[in-house]
Amino acid sequence: MGRKQFNMAKTKIRKAVFPAAGLGTRFLPATKAIPKEMLPVVDKPIIQYGVEEAIAAGCDQIIIVTGRGKTVIEDHFDISVELERQLESRGKLDLLAMARQISNLGRVAYIRQKEAMGLGHAVLMARDLVGDEPFAVILPDDVIDATPPCLQQMVSVFDEVQSSILATQVVEGPAISSYGVIDAKPTARNPRIMEVKALVEKPKLKDAPSKNAIIGRYILTPRIFELLETTPLGAGGELQLTDGIRGLLEHEKVYGYSFEGTRYDAGDKLGFLKATVEFALKREDLGDEFRAWLQGLSPLKS
Ligand code: UTP
Repeated sequence: MGRKQFNMAKTKIRKAVFPAAGLGTRFLPATKAIPKEMLPVVDKPIIQYGVEEAIAAGCDQIIIVTGRGKTVIEDHFDISVELERQLESRGKLDLLAMARQISNLGRVAYIRQKEAMGLGHAVLMARDLVGDEPFAVILPDDVIDATPPCLQQMVSVFDEVQSSILATQVVEGPAISSYGVIDAKPTARNPRIMEVKALVEKPKLKDAPSKNAIIGRYILTPRIFELLETTPLGAGGELQLTDGIRGLLEHEKVYGYSFEGTRYDAGDKLGFLKATVEFALKREDLGDEFRAWLQGLSPLKS
């Protein structure tokens, strides 16, 4: 059926694409001049959580799709000679190690998306850098707390199925209309792995084929690029990744994967606040004091 069968023994997910060229309108005014991807959850920019997740899953090439006003993302993953020199001379060796660890996080390449024409278009920009191999896509504003990390779980599924995989979570009620939604059948070997029959972008609640919403982690075969080239603009006048994946279904199997863990939509104000509180509570250096402070908050007592 598929054009290409990937060799189980050989195929490794080495490359992770991070679409980061969106305008972040849900987080205005903060995102007028600061990329959404650089907003910190506690003290780490949200995109760094995603990059660390990709590295933990075995990816060693990070491809970030950027746009105008996003150069601080490049600076963040680069060496900061001035900062390192100052931390060294002041004997702040822990902070120095942290700064160095960030600039050593794998090989990072950047490609520009000149206009925010949609997620599918952003992924298409990475075509030449990805080449002819399966790859991961991580949406940096989906911050996921999971053990093992979400992409690592998906790479294990890929080792089994050697096909495209979409991470999903159950979304109740009208909120489903903000997502791509799959119509899928759980496989006998693992009900978390579902064979996708159809998918629809941002359906009305009454039209949603299930409660399984696609979230910001994908493993895709390179055929997606050919399909995105010819996919017409979809919802919102944008080139939708979901529409390209629907094309994939005509050629290859695509699986949904209900990952184990908690996902926060940190590109949304409420999701960002939830992530901040949960991550802060888990921090060894902050958690106890922060919990005590939260418990004492008078608005929570009323
Ligand atoms: P979102 O829809 O969450 O991002 O896209 P957005 O458009 O920046 O945000 P809002 O809705 O206006 O607040 C998910 C990811 O895809 C990237 C975004 O940067 C984000 O990380 N994206 C989206 C692109 O890279 N290019 C696009 O054209 C659209």
